[in-house]
Formats: sequence, structure tokens, C-alpha cells
Amino acid sequence: MKVLLTGGAGYIGSHTIIEMCEAGHEVVVVDNFSNSSKKSVERVEQILGKRIPLYEADVADKEAMDRIFAEHAIDAVVHFAGLKAVGESVRKPLEYYENNLISTLVLLRAMEKAGVKKLIFSSSATVYGNPEKCPITEDSPTGNCSNPYGWTKYMIEQILFGYCVAHPEMQVILLRYFNPVGAHKSGRIGEMPNGIPNNLMPYVTQVAVGKLKELSVFGNDYPTPDGTGVRDYIHVVDLARGHVAALQYDKPGAEVFNLGTGVGYSVLDMVHTFSRENGVEVPYRIAPRREGDIAACYADPAKAERVLGWRATHTLSDMVRDSWRWQSQNPNGYEE
Ligand code: NAD
Ligand code: UD1
Repeated sequence: MKVLLTGGAGYIGSHTIIEMCEAGHEVVVVDNFSNSSKKSVERVEQILGKRIPLYEADVADKEAMDRIFAEHAIDAVVHFAGLKAVGESVRKPLEYYENNLISTLVLLRAMEKAGVKKLIFSSSATVYGNPEKCPITEDSPTGNCSNPYGWTKYMIEQILFGYCVAHPEMQVILLRYFNPVGAHKSGRIGEMPNGIPNNLMPYVTQVAVGKLKELSVFGNDYPTPDGTGVRDYIHVVDLARGHVAALQYDKPGAEVFNLGTGVGYSVLDMVHTFSRENGVEVPYRIAPRREGDIAACYADPAKAERVLGWRATHTLSDMVRDSWRWQSQNPNGYEE
């Protein structure tokens, strides 16, 4: 298949280019580089030994999107493009609603014009809000998001459900990611957060490499085995392969899948596994809870296995080792 990846230069997109090409698909990328670097795609090209057609454009730019669909016979789109920083979304809600919602609407129009019927959308476990129970199944209640970023994911899901009612021939696959971590085995591509990381793994790797002094563990009084927050960390390569599996899904309508491992690890599990596997100290202190955080969140990924034939195979050791290889070999990300 020929697949357009919006936001394909980003963290998850760049890993997905590799997995799709290795599975025999052709890939075209569109990105405005608002949160990424062209170098990620250059490095992917080096890994694959081939050129990837790359458009520098905003997905909200109608003409640019029409041109891409005119120049390539696209069979499916994976829509990664979006702003994703939770804290920033609280400070700049309009930017988040505008960027994430309008780009999706423009993309749908361009797909309609070009007759492209398959769309895979990057949703998030954040749409479950504070889940009533774990593991979380796809039919758990959604909404109750604690920030504008989460609401954009929830709203886009609603837009896509409604769109499929009006266009029953469409195939829309909503993938709700849990917590992606890790990097490609080569150590050449990985996550490059802007400024001080918000998420746990990039914070840990930046402490380990000496860029940050110590990790603050946000709360040790949660009702979890060691009192620290529990999440479903998933290797980004497994996540990328989930998109390859979703390409084969061939039923019309909108369908939701959780992409997680089904196993929850605590903050301290992560820190200790990271130190042990990589032989690097990660100084930490216990700090107050972070506002908006939940105690535990992990997936029931059974539907993705049953329907898509996909399951995560990387272990926590793989995740912490691959995260560290990327960080230690590229202390400044893509800036050489
Ligand atoms: P990322 O920021 O690395 O990648 C997103 C890419 O989209 C970036 O390259 C950015 O430049 C581009 N982009 C943003 N707005 C655009 C626009 N209007 N036009 C063109 N390009 C645009 O993020 P990521 O971690 O790779 O996440 C990919 C998707 O998965 C996002 O939609 C994100 O919300 C979602 N997601 C991520 C996580 C996570 O923890 N990383 C979890 C759940 C869901
Ligand atoms: C965060 C976002 C969520 C988003 C997800 C994936 C918030 C409130 N939620 O969720 O919307 O979908 O990222 O991008 O920001 N932790 C520390 N110290 C740190 C950083 C994190 O102890 O410096 C802890 C957190 O309290 C949590 C765990 O590590 O228990 C994971 O945190 P994080 O990586 O930010 O992910 P989420 O909280 O799942």
C-alpha cells in the first residue's frame, strides 16, 4: 500500500516509516516540523537505504494537501500530526484546538476529494480520563479529560465516528496509545522533547545523561503496590507495528483499538529497571503528586490481538535500554 503519514517526522511517525517500509509498504510524509526535525527523516532514509518523499507543509493547508494527493496514489493515511504537550495545551488552548481539529477537518476533505477511504488516527489513553477500572477495555467510558490536549483527542474521535455514519464506506481505525517509550535499535532516531520533558522516560534519560539534576517522583501515596503511579509503557517499535497491522484491517466503519502491553509498571519500577539495565544512576526524590495525574492506567490489549493479530513483544528491559542508547548517543537529539 502507499501510505501518507501526517506528522511522519515526529517520534512515533519516524519509527512507523521504518516498520511500514520493512513490511513492504510505500510511505509519503507530510510535516510542518513544528515539533520535529528534517534530520529524523534523513536518518530514517539512512537506516532504510532509500529516499522517502517528504513534504514540508501544514496539514491545515488545503492546497498543499490536495497537491500531495494529486501527486501520489495514496491508499491510506495515518494521521499523527498534532500538538501533544499537556501543560502547553492548558496555557494555549486555542492553539491546540485550532491545530489539532482544523488539520483533521482539512485532511478529511482532502481524502474525500481524492477518494481515499482508509484513515488511522493517533488517539490516546487520555480519552479515558480517570478510568473506573484497569485494565481498560475499548468500551470503557471516555470524556472527562483534564486538559485541552485530551479534549482534542476526544473531539477528533467524535468527529470521526460521525463522519463514518455519513460515509459508511470509510474505514477509520482509532488507535488509543498508552505510554510510548524506547527508540529504534540503531540508536539513530528517538524522542526529542522541546525544553524540560513532561513525560517520565525522557526525564529519566536526561537525568541519567547529566542534563537534569534529579527526577521528582510525583507522589508515593497512590493506592498502587509501591505508592507511585502505574502506567502501561509500550516500546515505540511495537506501537509502530500496530499501525502496520491496522493497515490490513479491512472492514468499513470506525473501530477503536487500545495499543498497550497490558502490564502496568510504577515510576520506581521504571527508575530501578533503567539503572540496573544500563548501569547508570538516576538520582530521584519523592515530590508531591502532579495535578491531574491518576494512580493507575493500563490497557486491555486483547482486542488488537484478536482482531489485528498484533501484540507488543518488547520487554521493559528493551524499552529502557533502547531509550538510553538513543539519549546517550544523541545527548542533544538531532542537533549534532
Ligand atoms: P511528535 O510531536 O513527535 O510528532 C507529531 C508531528 O506532527 C511532529 O513532527 C510535528 O511537527 C507534526 N505536526 C504537528 N502539527 C502539524 C500540522 N498542523 N501539520 C503538519 N505537521 C504537524 O509526537 P508523537 O509522540 O510522535 O505523537 C504522534 C501522535 O500521537 C500525536 O497526535 C500525539 O498526540 C499522539 N499520541 C502521542 C503519545 C505520546 O506519548 N507520544 C501518546 C498518545 C497519543
Ligand atoms: C501524560 C499526560 C497524558 C498523555 C501521556 C502520554 C498529564 C497529566 N498526562 O500522561 O495526557 O496522554 O502523558 O503522552 O500530563 N512522573 C514522575 N516524574 C516526572 C514525570 C512523570 O514521577 O518527572 C510520573 C507521573 O506522575 C506518572 C508517570 O510518571 O505516574 C508517567 O507520567 P507521564 O510520562 O507524564 O505520562 P502520563 O502521566 O501517563
